Amino acid sequence: MEFQDRDITSIEDFTRQEIAYILNKAKTMEPLAAKGSDILKGKILANIFFEPSTRTRLSFESAMLKLGGNNIGFADVESASVKKGENLADTIRTVENYADIIALRHPLEGAAKLAAEFAKIPVINAGSGAEEHPTQALVDLYTIQKERQKIDGLKVAVVGDLRYGRTVHSLAYALSLYDVELTLVSPETLRMRREVLRAIQSKISVTETQNLEKTIPQADVLYVTRIQKERFPDQAEYAKVKGTYRIDLKSLANAKKDLVILHPLPRVDEISAEVDSTPQARYFQQVWNGIVVRMALLGLLLGAVK
Ligand code: CP
Repeated sequence: MEFQDRDITSIEDFTRQEIAYILNKAKTMEPLAAKGSDILKGKILANIFFEPSTRTRLSFESAMLKLGGNNIGFADVESASVKKGENLADTIRTVENYADIIALRHPLEGAAKLAAEFAKIPVINAGSGAEEHPTQALVDLYTIQKERQKIDGLKVAVVGDLRYGRTVHSLAYALSLYDVELTLVSPETLRMRREVLRAIQSKISVTETQNLEKTIPQADVLYVTRIQKERFPDQAEYAKVKGTYRIDLKSLANAKKDLVILHPLPRVDEISAEVDSTPQARYFQQVWNGIVVRMALLGLLLGAVK
């Protein structure tokens, strides 16, 4: 299986077999994440972030450092020449001179694909507008597999903003490669994007509902997402759906004991803090998994991991 020099612009870039390979490699990174390694010594990752990020940027940086590599980049467009009007293609054709691989977060859908067309080095989509966040989906799959020792056969409920949430688009595409039952829980105005729904419905069982209360007792995995306030063209529309779903101890009263609650984070108010100490809450373990998955991806794309 060949990963060296590939771009990751969409989770659809991967087959199920390739995803399984990446998840296995991520597992082998667990001891390296603890003790460090120098397999990427001399390699440089450019983290080019045109939108805010805590987990994705810092976990890419941490992954690179744990493998002996180095990081450059910017996390604030105010400090980059885009502020002077430089376009994305020119930024990419500049940065590729300084680095071996690029992680790009951008507010525009299609930005990662455009960057990959211009770059001579691998480009990883670290979030493209409301479109996709493929490495997050790999982290999500890794977490599900680690927590439940399987993905096939599970009932997965995805809750929240399925329209503007990029993580759920990548996750839905990824889950459609497995034998899962997927329940999509959202307000009417934030239903899953139609093109994603069309693509996955032909492969797996998909149910759309607004009823979280009835969904929770059936679920093996509850994937909760934030309503993406910043992506609403009309803040009056956001006000109508704000706070629609809130997971608290009461709402989990009939949940399965081995339910796995995930969230790509950041959260606002959709999971109450009282849930954090339940055995079902696995979203901070999910954060750790972001490091090992990104270590595996960097190693594979840079040819240091086979
Ligand atoms: N999950 C995720 O993408 O988080 P950040 O926006 O903090 O990177």
